[in-house]
Amino acid sequence: MSDLPNLIEKVYQTNNLTNDEIIYLIKNITHKDRELLYSYALKTKRAYYGDKVYLRGLIEFSNFCRQDCLYCGIRASNSKVERYRLTPGEILACCDQAYKLGYRTFVLQSGEDIWYTDEILVALVHEIKMRYPKVAITLSIGERRVGTYQSLFASGADRFLMRHETASKELYEKLHPTMRFDDRRACLRALKDIGYQVGAGFMVGLPGQTLADLAEDLRYLKELQPDMIGIGPFIPHSETPLAAEKGGTLEATLVMVALARLLIPESLIPATTALGTLHPQGRELALKAGANVVMPIITPTSVRKQYALYENKICGDDQPEDCRYCIERRIQAAGFEVDLGRGDSTQFISLGADNR
Ligand code: 5AD
Repeated sequence: MSDLPNLIEKVYQTNNLTNDEIIYLIKNITHKDRELLYSYALKTKRAYYGDKVYLRGLIEFSNFCRQDCLYCGIRASNSKVERYRLTPGEILACCDQAYKLGYRTFVLQSGEDIWYTDEILVALVHEIKMRYPKVAITLSIGERRVGTYQSLFASGADRFLMRHETASKELYEKLHPTMRFDDRRACLRALKDIGYQVGAGFMVGLPGQTLADLAEDLRYLKELQPDMIGIGPFIPHSETPLAAEKGGTLEATLVMVALARLLIPESLIPATTALGTLHPQGRELALKAGANVVMPIITPTSVRKQYALYENKICGDDQPEDCRYCIERRIQAAGFEVDLGRGDSTQFISLGADNR
């Protein structure tokens, strides 16, 4: 196997590596190699997107969840969570505020909460689009029937985030006792076929996750060609079965972000809140390692802390406007510029799919 700088040069030049090369790279990477990897990831980001960082306003509208993922703080069996659900009227009020703060993408995220029927969601998406025709709507509501995804797309939803979580079937099924690996993949496929801009992604440092699993995560993403790729460290939550496990590290997560940028250069990659939670400069470091999106939280402050997928999540006491301006300052201080446009992926734009 060639030495690390050669491998890094190779992935920069070709946007490709074999699984064995990826495993070798993440196993042997030194501090100095990491800096080289990040600098190439940053160059690649600049070539595709310049210095722009896209902002998305994130509304966490319900923490009810029918699933029971072992890592997640809002899993169905966590009886200590105080559950909340925003009404469509309250969600629309968040959107109004988000619009005034300049956001042109609203991300509607929740646990898998079937209180929000197809009818409720379709009417909500339709109403948001009526009020703000130029805004992109991103949904992140988990697994539903294909017919539901179709109706929501028809009513105006543009994008859908659904992390694949891990590309190892065995690990996936261990961590998701109420879900099936093949269903997840089928949902992602269906969302793409319907025409959504799709976001997939995974957690780094899950208990039992191997380097081969991480290489497979990247290979799967390269094959799926999603528009967005969310990568964050696993952070243990004390009210889950994984409370005593170790979490993912800053370095390992940044290496995966940089490799995702190099392997799937046209993707939109958020500097995740989980990275910002792990390290005070985590999101800025991700931007310097190839990320180009930030998703400030616009959930009402009164319920924010209840949407705790993991603990000590940042911005719990902040107001939506605090996050908006805090993040702008951070992005500028890191040497990038905020872009408040819709921020479609270059893959999506070059397919002409934005003219629907
Ligand atoms: N630590 C880090 N990320 C988590 N997620 C859920 N629980 C945790 C946790 N404990 C991630 C999952 C999910 C996304 C919304 O948040 O990857 O898809």
